[in-house]
Amino acid sequence: MSDIPGSVQRSVYDLQAQGTDPLCAYIYDLGGLRHHVSEIAQALPANCEMFYATKANPALPVLQAMAPLVHGFEVASGGELDWVRSHFPDIPVIFGGPGKLESELDNALSQRVELIHVESLLELRRLCNLADHRKKPQDILLRINLALEETPSTRLTMGGIPTPFGMEERCITEALAILSKQDWVRIRGFHFHMMSHQLDGHRHLTLIERYLDTVRTWEHQFGLTVDQINVGGGIGVNYLEPTRQFDWIDFFAGLKELLERYHDRPWRIRFECGRALTAACGYYAAEVLDIKSCGNEWFAICRGGTHHFRTPAAQAHDHPFRILSNVDDSNDVPRLVDEPVTLVGQLCTPKDVFARQIHVPSLSVGDLVVFQYAGAYAWNISHQEFLMHPHPRELFID
Ligand SMILES: Cc1ncc(COP(=O)(O)O)c(C=O)c1O
Repeated sequence: MSDIPGSVQRSVYDLQAQGTDPLCAYIYDLGGLRHHVSEIAQALPANCEMFYATKANPALPVLQAMAPLVHGFEVASGGELDWVRSHFPDIPVIFGGPGKLESELDNALSQRVELIHVESLLELRRLCNLADHRKKPQDILLRINLALEETPSTRLTMGGIPTPFGMEERCITEALAILSKQDWVRIRGFHFHMMSHQLDGHRHLTLIERYLDTVRTWEHQFGLTVDQINVGGGIGVNYLEPTRQFDWIDFFAGLKELLERYHDRPWRIRFECGRALTAACGYYAAEVLDIKSCGNEWFAICRGGTHHFRTPAAQAHDHPFRILSNVDDSNDVPRLVDEPVTLVGQLCTPKDVFARQIHVPSLSVGDLVVFQYAGAYAWNISHQEFLMHPHPRELFID
């Protein structure tokens, strides 16, 4: 999905034609999303499940498209839990994330959360007290930050090094002692989410093998039998080389082989992916308002900015884009031909940059720059009210 489908292109042009001001808009290709997620879900090996991490993009039409295709939703706050439950009363939900409030844990007890991923011993104690008070059973996973021999080498690391996420391995003894003294909270297994932006399937398999080996050791060491291992999300999107994306088929083939080695264990392996599922369905289209030079560099100022589309600033990368042009050559507007250009937004900060010094064959005022892979950690992570610009149009096409 590195190129822009015809239906998206048509929508962008239609929106531009409808508006009186230059365009900025998000377009989500729900058909493309269904196709992409179905392919992944259908290729999952036996005993594996794919949950969607709603933090990546919680927009309702996105969740509605995903719901029939994934095994459930992962939420990371009381807000996400309420949002999901109000629209999907029956979908399996798992609840993770650090710093859960007592009110959120209490809410989770009444919202049929299948598993709470417990992040610390204090959180475990709080949950046990609440469950005891309410006389409500609750299943959990313990989120463990394993001390790895080799740190996962991606740009965003949540484990294998000191981080505030999950608990250290040495806490397991105490966690089990807490659990043994109460009747309502039951451990079903372990949760690991060590990093985001993983593009290397073989490295990811090595990491998962480490999780599985470790859980087997713990089962033996603590006299436990668990049936759930959550291996997190973190599969990446290759923004810099969009034609070379994570190879799910190869990865699942390796995973199937790996799991055969643990065929004696009653484990369900659960993924909770966000970015890799929804990034590709989203497009942020920004019309070129002005083109100017400063020193030896060209700048194109686009409608909107990183307060709508924070992904390039958050990732400190040049975001991939295509140019859609319907500006007639005869129009007397500033035009670049065969030049490198920096694409910026309308904010009064030098950080408002989408991509730096990228060579374009042609770019005119009035053209539409369409940023791909804008369907995850994009609109929902942006500081939307900065400068009080109107919000971008939002279109979900099927
Ligand atoms: C615990 C946990 N699970 C899943 C995810 C989803 O990660 P990704 O979107 O990289 O797949 C995150 C993201 O930060 C996370 O913290």
